[in-house]
Amino acid sequence: QKFNATLIPGDGIGPEVVDATVKVLDALGAPFEWDIQHAGIAGVEAHGDALPPQTLASIRERKLALKGPLTTPIGEGFRSANVRLREEFQLFANVRPVKTLIAGRYDDIDIVLIRENLGGFYVAHEYYIPVGDDPKAVAVSTGMNTREGSKRIARFAFEYAVKNGRKKVTVVHKANILKALTGIFLEAAREVAKEYEGRVTMNDMIVDACAMQLVLNPWQFDMLLCTNLFGDILSDELAGLVGGLGMAPGANFGADTAIFEAVHGSAPDIAGRGIANPISLLLGAKMMLDHVGLPDLSARLHNAIFDTLNISQVRTGDLMGTATTQQFTDALIERLGSL
Ligand code: NAI
Ligand code: MG
Repeated sequence: QKFNATLIPGDGIGPEVVDATVKVLDALGAPFEWDIQHAGIAGVEAHGDALPPQTLASIRERKLALKGPLTTPIGEGFRSANVRLREEFQLFANVRPVKTLIAGRYDDIDIVLIRENLGGFYVAHEYYIPVGDDPKAVAVSTGMNTREGSKRIARFAFEYAVKNGRKKVTVVHKANILKALTGIFLEAAREVAKEYEGRVTMNDMIVDACAMQLVLNPWQFDMLLCTNLFGDILSDELAGLVGGLGMAPGANFGADTAIFEAVHGSAPDIAGRGIANPISLLLGAKMMLDHVGLPDLSARLHNAIFDTLNISQVRTGDLMGTATTQQFTDALIERLGSL
């Protein structure tokens, strides 16, 4: 069986890590049939649109995509193509797992963060209020969470726990200050948690305390369930527990569409130099293999990444190694051959 999927190279280091990932998937014999489409700055250059209609059409048809990071310019007039993609396909759940692959400051980290992907401050109704001759004297940003959306992501998290043998969901909020916006989220999670009593436990933590606990004692966590912005921030912190942004994948799920990616962005500071760590996107591809029901290939990929890092000892610069993206990729493909 072949799986048709959209492939989005993206911006910055995107094409470099996407190229590495496709080569590894080929070597693995992963049965993906790619339709290459552009988005982000690359979309603007190819079709004058950060999210061109042909890219949307391709994903709509295939319901499956692997995407490199997209650059979102800071400033007015640009809506994030990532946020638009999530809205377009109603990708309400963002799954961001981290698991230790190399010895570091922390060992045996194994945490899955579930991020609500369509609400919170990302709906971003933002505006300025002029005062006197200053048109931007006051900046206002409003966020929004719905009870339905909060229950939907909570149910997704608890179902994920049941299916993946996880025992505890920690709901992250700031209900002491953002009483409405994150209070509704906590309330919805508590309600849904009742249906899972005896199978999955739930606790809750205020986001600032959670950020501290993640550094102090990350082993207390099994799964984190977060509102949109807190999930964005804490998933970078999670990446830091396992070696950095080069080690953290993400997957966006809707009712029928799934888009796999890395947690990191386009890394303009190292783009074009061939030194990016492709592991985040490779782990995104691993999640994609699990998603289409190919756990054996997924396990082989995981083991080959582990062996390349720890037996071959080939690592990119972000992991204090000396390998280029290409050298790491070649070593990984060699490892795949010997598994
Ligand atoms: P970033 O994640 O691109 O980079 C942060 C730091 O981590 C940089 O020093 C970078 O060199 C390093 N880094 C990231 N990935 C790496 C990898 N694979 N290997 C080695 N080092 C790596 O975050 P930044 O700089 O804040 O954002 C850059 C652009 O990316 C922005 O336009 C932002 O909007 C966009 N972005 C896109 C995302 C996506 O498409 N999913 C996610 C996050 C940011
Ligand atoms: Mg982020």
